[in-house]
Order: sequence, then C-alpha cells, then structure tokens
Amino acid sequence: MKHETLCGLDIGTTKTCAVVAVDGPSGLEIVGVGEAPSMGMRKGVVIDLEATIKSIEAATEKAERMAGMHVGDVFVGITGEHIRSTNNRAVVAIAGEDREVSATDVRRVVDASKIINLPSDRQIIHALPRYFTVDGQEGVDDPVGMAGGRLEVDTHLITGGSTFITNVLKCVHRAGLEACALVFEPLASAASTLLPEERQVGVVMLDIGGGTTDIAVFSFGSAIFTATVPVGGNVLTNDISLGLKTTLAEAESVKKRFGAGIVGEDGTTAFEVRTLDGRANKEATVETLRSIVVPRVLETLRMAKAKIVESVPRDLVLGEVVLTGGGSLLPGIGALAEDVFGLPVRVGAPNAVGGLTEAVAQPQYATAIGLVLFGVNGAGEESDGVRRRGGSLLARIRAWLGDLWN
Ligand SMILES: Nc1ncnc2c1ncn2[C@@H]1O[C@H](COP(=O)(O)OP(=O)(O)OP(=O)(O)O)[C@@H](O)[C@H]1O
Ligand SMILES: [Mg+2]
Repeated sequence: MKHETLCGLDIGTTKTCAVVAVDGPSGLEIVGVGEAPSMGMRKGVVIDLEATIKSIEAATEKAERMAGMHVGDVFVGITGEHIRSTNNRAVVAIAGEDREVSATDVRRVVDASKIINLPSDRQIIHALPRYFTVDGQEGVDDPVGMAGGRLEVDTHLITGGSTFITNVLKCVHRAGLEACALVFEPLASAASTLLPEERQVGVVMLDIGGGTTDIAVFSFGSAIFTATVPVGGNVLTNDISLGLKTTLAEAESVKKRFGAGIVGEDGTTAFEVRTLDGRANKEATVETLRSIVVPRVLETLRMAKAKIVESVPRDLVLGEVVLTGGGSLLPGIGALAEDVFGLPVRVGAPNAVGGLTEAVAQPQYATAIGLVLFGVNGAGEESDGVRRRGGSLLARIRAWLGDLWN
C-alpha cells in the first residue's frame, strides 16, 4: 500500500527542524526527525542565505536518514514582524438554479474575502474561514448542501512581506526541496498543542522561541487573531550574561536551571558561574537572577498581551493561555504568564500524532510537528472545498497552493 509522506520544515531562529510523517490508514505517523542549529536566521527572517540553506540541508538529511525515505514536498513555517493579520468578510449570491450552496460557491466567497487593499510588496499567506452565514443564519461551519440565496464568510487573513517570503522559499529550493505550502508558524504550533475544547472556549497560544514570540488566539473553534512579537528566549540569555558577567553558554545553562530565579528543588538559592574570561568561578543568587529575568519576561508577555488587547473584541471570553516553544520551558514562566493574563496557564507540548517519541513531544517541536498536522488537516479546511475534490493528499494540497498563490 502506498503511503504519502509529508515534511514539516521549521526554520527557527535557534534551530532548524524537519519532521517527516506518513499519512497512512491509521492516521499521521512521524517516521523521521532531524534538527540542526540555525545560523542564518534572525527573528524569523533570513539574514544569511548560505547558512540557512546549510541548516535546512542538515536537518532534512537527518530526518530522511531516520525515515529511510526522501522527502519531496515540504510545508514550510514562516514568521517574522512582516506578518500581519486582519479579519474580513465577503458576500456572494448563490449561483445554481437549485439555490443550494456548492463547493464552488464556498470557494468564490472565500476568494472574494481575499480582496483587500494590499500593497504590491505584500501577499496573502492564509485566508482561514472562521464561519459562514447563509441567508443571515450566522455561525455555519460547513455550508455545502444548504439551501439559500446569499452566502457570506468571515475569514482571518494573514499577509506577509513578499521579499521575506521569497528569501525563505529560495533557501528551501536551493536546499533541493519543493515547498508545497507556507504556514504561519503559530497556526502550526496551535495545530499540534491545542485541544479542540480549548479552541472552542477561547485560548491564547504563545510560542516563545529564541527570537520571536508567536501569538494565536482562537475562539469558537477558529483563529481570530495572529501576530508575532520580535522577542524570545535568547534575549534572556543575553541579559543573564550581561547581568552576571558570564559567558553566553553559562548564562543559557543558568537560565534552563533556575529560570526566573526559582529556588532549586533541593533548596538551592545560590550557584556558581564562570567569569567571562573563563578562568574563575563566582557566586550568584537566584534573587539576582530573578531581578534580571523577571522584568524581561514580564515585558515580553505584556507586549504580546498588548497586541491581543489592541485587536480582539473587548467582550471576547478567553479561558486559558497555552505556552509552547523552547521558551515555555523557563522555570517559573507559568506564574508570570498567569499574572499578566489573569488566566490559567499550561505548557503545551505537541500531541495527537502517532510515532511521537518522548524526545520529540517537547514544546520546541510544536511548530515542526504542527506543520505536518496543518498540512493534513488545515490545508483542506483552508482550501475552501479542495478536500472535497478528492484525489491524493498532495494533489489536494497542490490545488490548494494554486489557490493560495493566485
Ligand atoms: N529548559 C529551558 N528553559 C528555558 N529556556 C529554554 C529551555 N529550553 C530551551 N529554551 C530556550 O528556548 C529558545 C529556543 O526555542 P525554540 O527552539 O522554540 O526556538 P526557535 O523555533 O529556534 O526560534 P523562533 O521560533 O524564535 O524562530 C532559546 O532561547 C532557548 O534558550
Ligand atoms: Mg520557533
């Protein structure tokens, strides 16, 4: 039996991660994972083509070796400050004589919602239907087959700077891969970490990476707001290195161990760090660490909250905050996020995929795993009826991509 392979490629600020999955009869199964340090990316944007290509090659080669197969088509994650999101609404008259909504009507209305005033250097990455309205009846999830004369859609549109997108695609192409879709990274992370109930009730997902904090807000099952804040966990390492006058490597290790100045499980309140010249050790306390880390974490979380508050309706009900990405592992971050958002907080690791080993079921792989999940589930959803056309998964995705670029 022929299985289709999918590859998720997350070109992060600190690491590039490739995940190979097989879409078999028992669902999606991860068969290969490869990781390599990212040297050519800054805050989600390519700053060095050659270095980025090398990272992509290294990560995919490892994943291919583990999977024992080559990957062709790749779902590529994209992020950065150039990405913007907005909600839009469009209306079409239902075309057929039988006044029954067809897949074509759905496609037409979603396409109509993509018509916005867009500068020539920007392009639409996603048009995600939030809900449809048929003859004034709001909140329809799937209108195909319903009777009516007027079809409306509310979509969440995500746009990005064409130059930034082209540079990412250039790297992917030059690494010998074919990008079959671009996915805004928080959507991918949400696909692997959030539970359907959370999306329904209302949830804020923050993917705290090395250079960016990606935001996705879901309500009534769909994305209503997405954004990126150009600050992540790396800035904490820098702050600690400067504050404790120690090397970056030492600062990184202190950060992972004591986080936001958390007393160790064994009651440790002081620790030694190497001096900058590496010749001696000196003592530091968790209290000092707290005074360095807490203000920066609060600042980042407040920036994320400010973006959300600015854009979502005031009366929106949100039930929870889910933190993911490597930065969500910072000891003590949960309590700080609870203070800032006034909501319960949990750390989310990727779930709901077969073949997930413990090593991969970690927050820093949420995006890469989400990319393959999004590829299987989201592409159809988003493709306004492409899934219903049948055909192979990749054919559907390609058709969807066609829609995306047109
Ligand atoms: N245990 C830990 N405690 C605190 N921070 C951690 C821990 N593990 C990883 N990090 C931090 O997480 C960050 C990397 O996260 P991740 O791998 O999700 O980023 P990325 O995807 O490469 O970057 P980005 O999403 O910003 O492009 C680094 O700043 C790293 O120091
Ligand atoms: Mg990331």
